[in-house]
Order: sequence, then C-alpha cells, then structure tokens
Amino acid sequence: MSRPRIRPRRLRRSGALREWIAETDLAARQLVLPLFVRPGTGAPAPIPSLPGHAWQSRTTLPSFAHRLRREGILAVLLFGTAHRKDADGSEAWASDGVVPQAVRALKRAEPGLVVVTDVCLCAYTSHGHCGVVRDGEVANDATVDLLGRVAAAHAAAGADVVAPSAMMDGQVAGIRSALDDAGASQTAILAYATKHASVLYGPFREAEGSAPAFGDRAGYQMDPRNAREALRELRLDAEEGADLLMVKPAITSLDLLARARRRLDLPLAAYQVSGEFAMLRAGAQAGAFEERAAVLETLTAIRRAGADLIVTYYAREAARWLAGGA
Ligand code: PBG
Ligand code: ZN
Repeated sequence: MSRPRIRPRRLRRSGALREWIAETDLAARQLVLPLFVRPGTGAPAPIPSLPGHAWQSRTTLPSFAHRLRREGILAVLLFGTAHRKDADGSEAWASDGVVPQAVRALKRAEPGLVVVTDVCLCAYTSHGHCGVVRDGEVANDATVDLLGRVAAAHAAAGADVVAPSAMMDGQVAGIRSALDDAGASQTAILAYATKHASVLYGPFREAEGSAPAFGDRAGYQMDPRNAREALRELRLDAEEGADLLMVKPAITSLDLLARARRRLDLPLAAYQVSGEFAMLRAGAQAGAFEERAAVLETLTAIRRAGADLIVTYYAREAARWLAGGA
C-alpha cells in the first residue's frame, strides 16, 4: 500500500478549511450588467433572445437604477437601439440620442452608479457593420473619427467610461484625442481589446438588430486562433491610452486573460457574452446542471484566470446568489 507523505486532501476535509484557503473571490462589486435602452418612453419591453432582460426607456431607467443599486450592482454597460438607421449610423453620435438621454436619466437617478457606454456604429448602420462602408469595405480611419464623436456625445451626457467595441485600428487613441479635445479628459476608456469574430454574439445581434447585412466581421474582429496577435491588441490599446482592457467572449479567452494578467497592469475585464448566457440557460433548462452552480462556477473561473471585472447577463442573479438569496 502506497503511503503518500504529501496529501493535498488535508486542506479539503471540511468546509471551513476549504473556505480558509480559497484563492479566488467573486463579489457583486465585480459584475457589470449589460443594459439595453430603446428610443422613446414607456414600459420595459422583454427581449426575446435574452430571457429575463428588457429594453428600458428613459422613463423606466430611474427606478431600474435604484433597484440595481439596492441589489449591489455597481456598474452597467449601456447599449442603445436606433430609432432610424442610415448608412453611416448618424444617430450614434447625436447629442440627444438614445444613449446620451439614458446616461442623463441614470446619472440623475443614481449618481453613484458607474455608467459605461458601448461605443460602436453597428446598432445604427443600415448594413449592420461596426463602421462606415467605403468602396465595399469597412473604412478604418473614417470610422475612428465617427467613434470619437460617439464617445464625446456619451461623455458630454455624463458617462464615466466609454467602451469602444468596433475593433478599428487606432480607435482608442482616436477616442482619447476626441475626448480630450471636447474637454472630457476625465472620461475613462474601457477598450474591447481582443474581441473574437465569434458565433457567440447571436442573441445580442438579434436584440440589437445588428447582424451584418452582407459579409461578416472577420475583417475587423480577431481570429480566435491567434493568441500572440490578441496580446498585441491588448498591448496596443494600453499604449494608446486605454484605462481598462476587455477580452471577449470570456469562456473562449481564459488563456488570454491569464497571459494578459501577467504582462499588463491595467484593470482587466471579461465579457461573458450573450451566447454564453444562452448556453448556460439552455443547459439548466435541459436539466444538465443547476443554473446557479453552473453560473457561479463559470464566473469564478473567469476571475481565477485574471479578470478584475466581468460583464455578464447574470449580474443580478449572481449578486443575489452571492448574498445568500435563492
Ligand atoms: C457591438 C457589440 C457586440 C457585442 C458587444 N458589442 C456584437 C458584435 O460584435 O457583433 C456582443 C455582446 C454579446 O454577445 O453579448 N460591436
Ligand atoms: Zn459593432
């Protein structure tokens, strides 16, 4: 009979021992809720592709914000939907557009809520691409100029953080200059630094009506096969002046998180995207696992890999579960 001298199980014998030596914490303060706003006023409208989520309007946002703060949620990531789309997505940078109006409503109701806004054109362009199309291609530099205007409009409305997600080269530097020129030097940038061209954005695109009408996003989003290139994107965004960096999807980027954590000092975020939410929800409904345990396990693994912050459609449920609720 073998008699190991070293026995890691000694520290797994009781719940107290396991609690005592646990290396990773998950807390509500680390969670960011994606929040969808639509033009106009009126009641929340359920989002069919994201069960449990609803489009809020500027009139429903104040009470929703109060509820989030009571639930322990510190931050939201705002997405707008267009009233009328056009080729260049001009509603995206309107100073009285749906996102600036939502930011003002949120900040008036709950000044302590951290308001992050997604900065992209795809929800506003008639063709659904993240940038403007010139000569059949998504034009990088023209798009960066427009993203600067979008970010400045969000900052003027009071956004704490703007989060460019278009994956254009130089978008962080371009937005930093636009913000500084507009007197918004205190508005921070959360860069979607390595964003895979992924199938896992389906439910989100259905919600936003932002699926590209032709082609796909592989000409600007990252090839999931490339880790060195992903690290280069992270480093570039840091050099361009990002204040925080994000990877997405989360579950397919754990190696990138771990490597980025060792190389970079900026706060790191991971986005557990709509397709990850859909997988967890579907698995739970099929009886494959208990939803609460599966969600907390994935969120904890994302934290263990190196994420300081996690954007997740489960933010409210997780906050409740972490507080001991059912
Ligand atoms: C828009 C954007 C997308 C997501 C966040 N911002 C979709 C896309 O790139 O097609 C995905 C979020 C999700 O799936 O939850 N640029
Ligand atoms: Zn986009």
